[in-house]
Amino acid sequence: MTTYPAIDRQRFLKRLDDFAAIGATPAGGVNRQALSEEDRQARRELCRLAQARGFRVFQDPMANLFIRREGRNSAPPLVIGSHLDSQPTGGRFDGALGTLAAFEVLETLEDRGIETVLPLEVVAWTNEEGSRFAPGTMGSQAFALGTVPEEWEDVRDRNGARLMDELKATLASLPQAESRPPGFPISGYLELHIEQGPSLEREKLPVGIVHGIQGTRWLEVAVSGQAAHAGTTALSYRRDPMIATAAALDRLFRTVMPSDERARLTVGRIEAKPGSVNAIPESVEFTIDLRHPDAATLDELEAMIGRICKKTADEARCDVKVRRFFDMPPVAFPESLLGGLEKAAERLDFPWKRMLSGAFHDALFVSRVAPAAMIFVPCRDGLSHNEREHVEPEHSAAGAQMLLASTLEVMELLAGQKPSPGQL
Ligand code: GLV
Ligand code: MN
Ligand code: MN
Repeated sequence: MTTYPAIDRQRFLKRLDDFAAIGATPAGGVNRQALSEEDRQARRELCRLAQARGFRVFQDPMANLFIRREGRNSAPPLVIGSHLDSQPTGGRFDGALGTLAAFEVLETLEDRGIETVLPLEVVAWTNEEGSRFAPGTMGSQAFALGTVPEEWEDVRDRNGARLMDELKATLASLPQAESRPPGFPISGYLELHIEQGPSLEREKLPVGIVHGIQGTRWLEVAVSGQAAHAGTTALSYRRDPMIATAAALDRLFRTVMPSDERARLTVGRIEAKPGSVNAIPESVEFTIDLRHPDAATLDELEAMIGRICKKTADEARCDVKVRRFFDMPPVAFPESLLGGLEKAAERLDFPWKRMLSGAFHDALFVSRVAPAAMIFVPCRDGLSHNEREHVEPEHSAAGAQMLLASTLEVMELLAGQKPSPGQL
């Protein structure tokens, strides 16, 4: 028995399917990269649905989209949501689940005529993924900073498209949305997301209550040597950045993760220039995605990566530069909010556990300006950032129901404590 209004399961599951059709790939996933035409189409559809229900829609200069339902008082809103952009070969639930579940919460409250104390807003943050335009979580970062960082002026995608041009076109594609400043007071933030890992599925738990997010750093390693003929240049004459890169990667993969089971190191992009089959490359560039729950360990690992890259470059008589281009320190969510989420899970009779998020999320940056927390649901085989990503319908529905219950619990908590942003 729950004391909460029930979400409209059919409507919600159909909506997940409808949005999965926007940017659908033949392999069953989505390609709805940030600020692409597909991303714009998804925003327009969400905006259309919102306006059909009479909700006001806003966008800020970073194209974060907000849908507002008024509350009994005009204090800063409780915000719930996630993102609509995807990886290039992404799944249909990463981001969309949390955004559409948040909208379902709004609609259910509207259907039942339930008045909330605080205004409630749904958000779709811009460019969470960061795979088209780096870094990720641009929308929530700009929101937390209260400004769009100047250095983003120069950001381009790999085809040369400018972030700022695509942003302008995206803003213009929703002329019906009212404008908002970049960042404004909010009372709190909740985000539902798929776990993107295997633990909930393995433990047969429908709900994870996320107590924090591990830290992430993105590094770009540029190794430069000397381009030369592939057939005539003997080993002793080579300054081959590919040899340096291969040695560096071998050492990194045999050191970082094997010696610390909480560490994560991923090389997802590598490029040799000029990229000719019969020329020793002039340079090799690769990215490193480095994660750890502990900030001090991240510092140590980054320093170690620098040393390994320098040593292997020296050995191959090459030069190397390591540039950090994204830094997300780990975050812990406030106990007060977590208690509200646990109460919601108990009252819904959903078995749950507390867990740390291995993936980063917009909640990380939002938590700098307001109390935030997250809810996870299981996904099949723990698979995400993959077109085969799948969430069982009962888990999607449970997640939306849990978001609704948590929204009401947290609303009560925030209204009762009358917090100011960031002070809970
Ligand atoms: C988010 O998409 C992440 O890479 O953690
Ligand atoms: Mn996501
Ligand atoms: Mn993702």
